[in-house]
Amino acid sequence: MNIQNDRRGLVKSLHYISGVTLSVFIAFHLLNHLFALDGPEKHIQIMDQFRLVYRHPVVETLLLLVVLFQIVTGIRLIYKRDAQTIAEKIQVYSGLYLSFFLIAHIGAVLSGRYIEHLDTNFYFAAAGLNYYPATFIFIPYYFLAVASISLHVSAIHYLKTGSKGTAVGIAVIGIVASFIIILAFTDSFKWLDMPLPYEQFIRVLI
Ligand code: HEM
Ligand code: HEM
Repeated sequence: MNIQNDRRGLVKSLHYISGVTLSVFIAFHLLNHLFALDGPEKHIQIMDQFRLVYRHPVVETLLLLVVLFQIVTGIRLIYKRDAQTIAEKIQVYSGLYLSFFLIAHIGAVLSGRYIEHLDTNFYFAAAGLNYYPATFIFIPYYFLAVASISLHVSAIHYLKTGSKGTAVGIAVIGIVASFIIILAFTDSFKWLDMPLPYEQFIRVLI
């Protein structure tokens, strides 16, 4: 029992350390998406700057390994966790959605880059959001991703500090940011036209 507890404690600590590391990327990544409020060109300009860091082969390899590690350790923690309280349940369900999303999202980005030979910039994500019927899948898909990461962090904060006000604040800020990203990527549901290769890509897909 003690050995099992020790091992669980170790997995939890490792999930924590890699989670904090990954959060640095996620913060910049979501900030990048918020710049889409100023139009696609601004989003691409900021992404070009951020790519200088996270597209460096060493950084990118580490980033992708950390994502994989986060999913594997997270699923192990769920498997051994008997979630009782609402906060614990939110942590588990947000984690489950993040596992699905990260596998789908990174799979899409890598296949977009290496199989479709597309520049996986603003238009790559926006294509799914702006064409019917794909938009019905991609709006909840991206909205829930940003909402889930906020809910995951919010639940952690609550379970560690017991502070309900701050935890609710984190969740609300994240959910509002998620909605703003969807507005920015769809020109507030007035819809955007994509360069032809991106439109063709999404029309073939869905
Ligand atoms: C995507 C980025 C993720 C980040 C930044 C993140 C971060 C964290 C952090 C910092 C903790 C707190 C650990 C502690 O209490 O010391 C935690 C807990 C937890 N995470 Fe994640 N996580 C992520 C993804 C996932 C995924 C994909 C899953 C599940 C498949 C998951 C499942 C869990 C569970 C079950 C706990 C509770 C552990 C426990 O207290 O028993 N997480 N996460
Ligand atoms: C929880 C939220 C999210 C996480 C954890 C996440 C994570 C990641 C990761 C790890 C990469 C791979 C970076 C690389 O190796 O080049 C990536 C790429 C990308 N993501 Fe996300 N993402 C999230 C949300 C979003 C959202 C909401 C959008 C757009 C609406 C988006 C659009 C993109 C695009 C376009 C790329 C390609 C970047 C490039 O080619 O430089 N992501 N994301």
